[in-house]
Amino acid sequence: MKLGVVGKGGVGKTTVSALLGRAFAARGRRVLAVDTDSNPNLGVSLGLDQWRTDAMSVLPRSLIVGAAGSASAADVVRDYGVETPTGVTLLSAIKVTEAGAGCTCAGHASVRSLLGEVMAEQADVTLVDMEAGLEHLSRSGGTLAYADVLLVVMEPSRKSVITAARTQALAAELGIPLVFGVGNKARGDDEAFFTALCGEFDVPLLGVLPYDDAVPAADRAGTALGEVPAAVDALVDALESRTAIAG
Ligand SMILES: Nc1ncnc2c1ncn2[C@@H]1O[C@H](COP(=O)(O)OP(=O)(O)OP(=O)(O)O)[C@@H](O)[C@H]1O
Ligand SMILES: [Mg+2]
Repeated sequence: MKLGVVGKGGVGKTTVSALLGRAFAARGRRVLAVDTDSNPNLGVSLGLDQWRTDAMSVLPRSLIVGAAGSASAADVVRDYGVETPTGVTLLSAIKVTEAGAGCTCAGHASVRSLLGEVMAEQADVTLVDMEAGLEHLSRSGGTLAYADVLLVVMEPSRKSVITAARTQALAAELGIPLVFGVGNKARGDDEAFFTALCGEFDVPLLGVLPYDDAVPAADRAGTALGEVPAAVDALVDALESRTAIAG
């Protein structure tokens, strides 16, 4: 399964990507997580320290993976994958280290090419943590064109649900088969809010994760969350049953 995690800025894409990756890994799945944020943070959420995250080798730009290209998916994972303490293998796809160095399109093309490959030998689940916004769906070819499922993370705000509805329309144009909304940071009656608004905008709601004080605490400490919350496991159950990939 190839999963893209998308949504508005700051809604929790990186947090949800890391927790889903860890939950899949705890079930014995081989998980490859790809950080495509030009300001990468996924490593720390997967248990690497900041130094190790910053020192990661970034995928070559404009990599062509597969029969016609210079590398196989196995080469990419072997040469660039980093094992994290949480059991997830991490790839760093894009990093901006130099001011004025140009756009990140070539890095996105590498991710697109990798996702276009059959990766059954390398991973059961490939999870791509995206930068905020919708550009990854509009840029030439679409970074996530070969994803099987998009998860649009939402805060309890109307704007983030509307982002999910817009994402759904663009994903349909790219031919991405499944798009689900995932509510995050829910308190009080936020779950009812997500259910109502997703109904109004026709966004299939996969599940809702509660607001958890441990998440900002881990963020401030620069560590991964101690344990994967039960609600994340429920999300994996829902994903497996709704994509019929269980087992
Ligand atoms: N379930 C949660 N409970 C409490 N706080 C959360 C939760 N999920 C995320 N946060 C907090 O929200 C902030 C943004 O989280 P995160 O970095 O995962 O979002 P993002 O969507 O990846 O952001 P960006 O758009 O910058 O990539 C962080 O401060 C994080 O601690
Ligand atoms: Mg992020």
